[in-house]
Amino acid sequence: MMTAYDYPTARLAEEAGVDMILVGDSLGMVVLGYASTAPVTMEEMLHHGRAVARGAPLTHVTVDLPFMAYQVSDEQAVANAGRLVKEGGADSVKLEGGLAMAGRIGAIVRAGIPVVGHIGLLPQTAAGQGGLKVQGRSIERARAILADAEAVATAGAFAMVVEAVPAELGSIITERAPIPTIGIGAGPDCDGQVLVSTDVLGLEDRLSPKFAKRYAEVGSIIRDAFATYVREVRSGAFPDETHAYAMKPETAEALRRASTEG
Ligand code: KIV
Repeated sequence: MMTAYDYPTARLAEEAGVDMILVGDSLGMVVLGYASTAPVTMEEMLHHGRAVARGAPLTHVTVDLPFMAYQVSDEQAVANAGRLVKEGGADSVKLEGGLAMAGRIGAIVRAGIPVVGHIGLLPQTAAGQGGLKVQGRSIERARAILADAEAVATAGAFAMVVEAVPAELGSIITERAPIPTIGIGAGPDCDGQVLVSTDVLGLEDRLSPKFAKRYAEVGSIIRDAFATYVREVRSGAFPDETHAYAMKPETAEALRRASTEG
Protein backbone atom coordinates (compact mmCIF):
# COMPACT_ATOMS: atom_id res chain seq x y z
CA MET A 1 0.00 0.00 0.00
CA MET A 2 1.17 3.52 -0.84
CA THR A 3 -0.44 6.87 -0.21
CA ALA A 4 -1.36 9.09 -3.14
CA TYR A 5 -3.21 12.37 -3.19
CA ASP A 6 -3.45 13.31 -6.86
CA TYR A 7 -4.01 11.94 -10.37
CA PRO A 8 -0.41 11.66 -11.62
CA THR A 9 0.92 9.97 -8.46
CA ALA A 10 -2.01 7.54 -8.48
CA ARG A 11 -1.31 6.67 -12.12
CA LEU A 12 2.35 6.00 -11.38
CA ALA A 13 1.48 3.91 -8.30
CA GLU A 14 -0.89 1.78 -10.36
CA GLU A 15 1.68 1.38 -13.14
CA ALA A 16 4.26 0.36 -10.50
CA GLY A 17 1.99 -2.45 -9.26
CA VAL A 18 0.99 -1.07 -5.84
CA ASP A 19 -1.83 -3.32 -4.52
CA MET A 20 -3.82 -0.66 -2.65
CA ILE A 21 -3.69 3.13 -2.65
CA LEU A 22 -4.46 5.09 0.50
CA VAL A 23 -5.71 8.64 0.19
CA GLY A 24 -4.50 9.38 3.70
CA ASP A 25 -5.44 12.46 5.67
CA SER A 26 -1.66 12.89 5.87
CA LEU A 27 -2.43 14.96 2.77
CA GLY A 28 -3.23 17.79 5.19
CA MET A 29 0.42 17.94 6.21
CA VAL A 30 2.34 16.79 3.13
CA VAL A 31 0.22 18.36 0.37
CA LEU A 32 -1.83 21.16 1.96
CA GLY A 33 0.80 22.42 4.41
CA TYR A 34 -1.21 22.17 7.65
CA ALA A 35 0.71 21.61 10.89
CA SER A 36 -1.29 18.45 11.67
CA THR A 37 -4.03 16.29 10.15
CA ALA A 38 -6.69 17.78 12.45
CA PRO A 39 -7.90 20.58 10.10
CA VAL A 40 -8.50 18.25 7.12
CA THR A 41 -12.13 18.39 5.95
CA MET A 42 -14.46 15.95 4.23
CA GLU A 43 -14.50 18.23 1.17
CA GLU A 44 -10.70 17.97 0.91
CA MET A 45 -10.78 14.17 1.21
CA LEU A 46 -13.53 13.97 -1.45
CA HIS A 47 -11.59 16.24 -3.83
CA HIS A 48 -8.33 14.27 -3.54
CA GLY A 49 -10.10 10.89 -3.45
CA ARG A 50 -11.76 11.58 -6.80
CA ALA A 51 -8.45 12.60 -8.40
CA VAL A 52 -6.75 9.41 -7.17
CA ALA A 53 -9.62 7.19 -8.34
CA ARG A 54 -9.39 8.77 -11.81
CA GLY A 55 -5.64 8.06 -11.89
CA ALA A 56 -5.84 4.46 -10.67
CA PRO A 57 -9.10 2.95 -11.94
CA LEU A 58 -7.84 -0.64 -11.56
CA THR A 59 -6.48 -0.34 -8.00
CA HIS A 60 -8.32 -0.59 -4.68
CA VAL A 61 -8.52 2.93 -3.23
CA THR A 62 -9.00 3.46 0.51
CA VAL A 63 -9.89 6.99 1.62
CA ASP A 64 -9.40 8.25 5.19
CA LEU A 65 -12.30 9.61 7.20
CA PRO A 66 -10.84 12.88 8.53
CA PHE A 67 -10.85 13.99 12.16
CA MET A 68 -14.37 14.64 13.53
CA ALA A 69 -16.04 13.09 10.47
CA TYR A 70 -16.84 9.89 12.47
CA GLN A 71 -16.25 10.57 16.16
CA VAL A 72 -19.67 12.16 16.85
CA SER A 73 -22.07 9.25 16.22
CA ASP A 74 -22.61 6.06 14.21
CA GLU A 75 -25.01 8.01 11.97
CA GLN A 76 -22.37 10.65 11.22
CA ALA A 77 -19.74 7.97 10.54
CA VAL A 78 -22.00 6.00 8.17
CA ALA A 79 -23.12 9.16 6.32
CA ASN A 80 -19.55 10.38 5.79
CA ALA A 81 -18.23 6.93 4.84
CA GLY A 82 -21.06 6.80 2.30
CA ARG A 83 -20.02 10.16 0.86
CA LEU A 84 -16.43 8.94 0.44
CA VAL A 85 -17.73 5.97 -1.58
CA LYS A 86 -20.43 7.82 -3.58
CA GLU A 87 -18.57 11.09 -4.22
CA GLY A 88 -14.93 10.45 -3.34
CA GLY A 89 -13.88 7.44 -5.40
CA ALA A 90 -13.37 5.20 -2.34
CA ASP A 91 -13.54 1.41 -2.53
CA SER A 92 -13.16 1.34 1.25
CA VAL A 93 -12.67 3.82 4.10
CA LYS A 94 -10.11 3.96 6.92
CA LEU A 95 -10.61 5.34 10.39
CA GLU A 96 -8.36 5.63 13.43
CA GLY A 97 -9.02 3.91 16.74
CA GLY A 98 -9.34 0.46 18.29
CA LEU A 99 -11.74 -0.54 21.06
CA ALA A 100 -13.15 2.97 21.28
CA MET A 101 -14.10 2.95 17.58
CA ALA A 102 -15.28 -0.67 17.25
CA GLY A 103 -18.93 0.44 17.26
CA ARG A 104 -18.32 2.90 14.43
CA ILE A 105 -16.49 0.27 12.37
CA GLY A 106 -19.41 -2.16 12.87
CA ALA A 107 -21.96 0.47 11.84
CA ILE A 108 -20.10 1.35 8.63
CA VAL A 109 -19.55 -2.32 7.74
CA ARG A 110 -23.25 -3.07 8.34
CA ALA A 111 -24.04 -0.28 5.88
CA GLY A 112 -22.10 -2.28 3.29
CA ILE A 113 -18.91 -0.22 3.22
CA PRO A 114 -15.58 -2.04 3.69
CA VAL A 115 -13.43 -0.59 6.49
CA VAL A 116 -9.67 -0.56 7.13
CA GLY A 117 -8.86 -0.05 10.82
CA HIS A 118 -5.90 1.92 12.14
CA ILE A 119 -4.27 1.19 15.52
CA GLY A 120 -1.03 2.04 17.36
CA LEU A 121 -0.09 5.66 16.76
CA LEU A 122 -3.22 7.61 15.84
CA PRO A 123 -2.06 10.86 14.21
CA GLN A 124 -5.48 12.58 14.43
CA THR A 125 -5.41 12.40 18.24
CA ALA A 126 -1.65 12.09 18.78
CA ALA A 127 -1.65 14.90 21.34
CA GLY A 128 -3.39 12.45 23.71
CA GLN A 129 -0.72 9.83 22.97
CA GLY A 130 2.23 12.07 23.87
CA GLY A 131 2.76 13.33 20.30
CA LEU A 132 3.83 11.57 17.09
CA LYS A 133 5.77 8.88 18.97
CA VAL A 134 6.19 5.13 19.00
CA GLN A 135 3.37 3.45 20.95
CA GLY A 136 3.16 0.21 22.94
CA ARG A 137 6.61 0.04 24.49
CA SER A 138 5.27 -0.77 27.96
CA ILE A 139 3.49 -4.03 28.69
CA GLU A 140 0.29 -2.16 29.62
CA ARG A 141 0.20 -0.10 26.40
CA ALA A 142 1.19 -3.14 24.30
CA ARG A 143 -1.69 -5.14 25.80
CA ALA A 144 -4.08 -2.26 25.14
CA ILE A 145 -2.99 -2.17 21.49
CA LEU A 146 -3.47 -5.95 21.22
CA ALA A 147 -7.01 -5.44 22.56
CA ASP A 148 -7.50 -2.69 19.94
CA ALA A 149 -6.39 -5.09 17.18
CA GLU A 150 -8.86 -7.73 18.35
CA ALA A 151 -11.69 -5.20 18.59
CA VAL A 152 -11.06 -3.84 15.08
CA ALA A 153 -11.07 -7.34 13.56
CA THR A 154 -14.13 -8.45 15.53
CA ALA A 155 -16.00 -5.29 14.46
CA GLY A 156 -15.61 -6.36 10.83
CA ALA A 157 -12.67 -4.38 9.41
CA PHE A 158 -11.13 -6.27 6.49
CA ALA A 159 -7.57 -5.07 7.20
CA MET A 160 -5.83 -2.79 9.68
CA VAL A 161 -2.99 -0.33 9.54
CA VAL A 162 -0.62 -0.72 12.50
CA GLU A 163 1.42 2.46 12.99
CA ALA A 164 4.61 3.07 14.98
CA VAL A 165 4.80 0.16 17.39
CA PRO A 166 7.82 -2.00 18.27
CA ALA A 167 8.51 -4.72 15.68
CA GLU A 168 7.84 -7.44 18.29
CA LEU A 169 4.36 -6.07 18.93
CA GLY A 170 3.70 -5.75 15.17
CA SER A 171 4.65 -9.40 14.86
CA ILE A 172 2.36 -10.60 17.69
CA ILE A 173 -0.59 -8.54 16.37
CA THR A 174 -0.07 -10.06 12.91
CA GLU A 175 0.18 -13.60 14.28
CA ARG A 176 -3.07 -13.24 16.22
CA ALA A 177 -5.13 -11.15 13.80
CA PRO A 178 -7.63 -12.93 11.54
CA ILE A 179 -7.30 -10.05 9.03
CA PRO A 180 -4.22 -8.68 7.23
CA THR A 181 -2.07 -6.11 9.03
CA ILE A 182 -0.50 -3.28 7.05
CA GLY A 183 2.45 -1.87 8.95
CA ILE A 184 4.02 1.56 8.97
CA GLY A 185 6.84 1.55 11.47
CA ALA A 186 5.55 -1.76 12.85
CA GLY A 187 8.35 -4.07 11.73
CA PRO A 188 8.86 -6.57 8.92
CA ASP A 189 6.36 -9.21 10.07
CA CYS A 190 3.18 -7.34 9.16
CA ASP A 191 1.30 -8.84 6.23
CA GLY A 192 1.77 -5.69 4.17
CA GLN A 193 3.46 -2.31 4.41
CA VAL A 194 2.33 1.25 3.77
CA LEU A 195 4.44 4.37 3.33
CA VAL A 196 3.62 8.01 2.67
CA SER A 197 4.48 8.68 -0.97
CA THR A 198 6.12 12.05 -0.31
CA ASP A 199 8.51 10.29 2.13
CA VAL A 200 9.28 7.57 -0.43
CA LEU A 201 9.95 10.21 -3.10
CA GLY A 202 12.06 12.52 -0.94
CA LEU A 203 9.55 15.37 -1.30
CA GLU A 204 8.95 15.95 2.40
CA ASP A 205 11.94 17.23 4.33
CA ARG A 206 10.33 18.86 7.39
CA LEU A 207 9.31 15.58 9.03
CA SER A 208 11.43 12.47 8.79
CA PRO A 209 9.98 9.58 10.79
CA LYS A 210 12.46 6.77 11.58
CA PHE A 211 10.32 4.28 9.65
CA ALA A 212 10.22 6.25 6.42
CA LYS A 213 12.61 5.13 3.68
CA ARG A 214 13.46 7.54 0.87
CA TYR A 215 13.64 5.59 -2.38
CA ALA A 216 14.38 8.69 -4.49
CA GLU A 217 15.32 12.35 -4.15
CA VAL A 218 12.57 13.77 -6.34
CA GLY A 219 12.54 17.01 -4.31
CA SER A 220 16.11 17.82 -5.42
CA ILE A 221 15.30 16.88 -9.01
CA ILE A 222 12.29 19.24 -9.02
CA ARG A 223 14.24 22.10 -7.38
CA ASP A 224 17.08 21.71 -9.91
CA ALA A 225 14.66 21.62 -12.85
CA PHE A 226 12.87 24.79 -11.64
CA ALA A 227 16.21 26.56 -11.07
CA THR A 228 17.44 25.65 -14.57
CA TYR A 229 14.16 26.93 -16.07
CA VAL A 230 14.48 30.22 -14.17
CA ARG A 231 18.10 30.62 -15.36
CA GLU A 232 17.19 29.87 -18.98
CA VAL A 233 14.23 32.27 -19.04
CA ARG A 234 16.37 35.04 -17.54
CA SER A 235 19.23 34.43 -19.99
CA GLY A 236 16.91 34.04 -23.02
CA ALA A 237 18.03 30.43 -23.65
CA PHE A 238 14.39 29.35 -23.32
CA PRO A 239 12.22 29.32 -25.33
CA ASP A 240 14.16 28.66 -28.55
CA GLU A 241 12.67 27.91 -31.99
CA THR A 242 11.95 24.27 -31.06
CA HIS A 243 9.44 25.48 -28.45
CA ALA A 244 7.81 28.22 -30.58
CA TYR A 245 5.10 28.24 -33.26
CA ALA A 246 5.99 29.58 -36.71
CA MET A 247 4.03 31.61 -39.24
CA LYS A 248 4.52 31.48 -43.03
CA PRO A 249 7.26 34.06 -43.82
CA GLU A 250 4.98 35.94 -46.25
CA THR A 251 2.21 36.18 -43.61
CA ALA A 252 4.72 37.42 -41.03
CA GLU A 253 6.03 40.00 -43.50
CA ALA A 254 2.49 41.19 -44.36
CA LEU A 255 1.67 41.46 -40.68
CA ARG A 256 4.83 43.45 -40.01
CA ARG A 257 3.99 45.84 -42.84
CA ALA A 258 0.37 46.21 -41.72
CA SER A 259 1.41 46.92 -38.15
CA THR A 260 3.83 49.70 -39.17
CA GLU A 261 1.27 51.23 -41.60
CA GLY A 262 -1.60 51.14 -39.13
O1 KIV B 1 -2.91 9.39 6.58
C1 KIV B 1 -2.07 8.54 6.26
O2 KIV B 1 -1.29 8.69 5.33
C2 KIV B 1 -2.04 7.31 7.04
C3 KIV B 1 -0.81 6.46 6.92
C4 KIV B 1 0.25 7.03 7.77
C5 KIV B 1 -1.09 5.05 7.22
O3 KIV B 1 -2.93 7.04 7.79
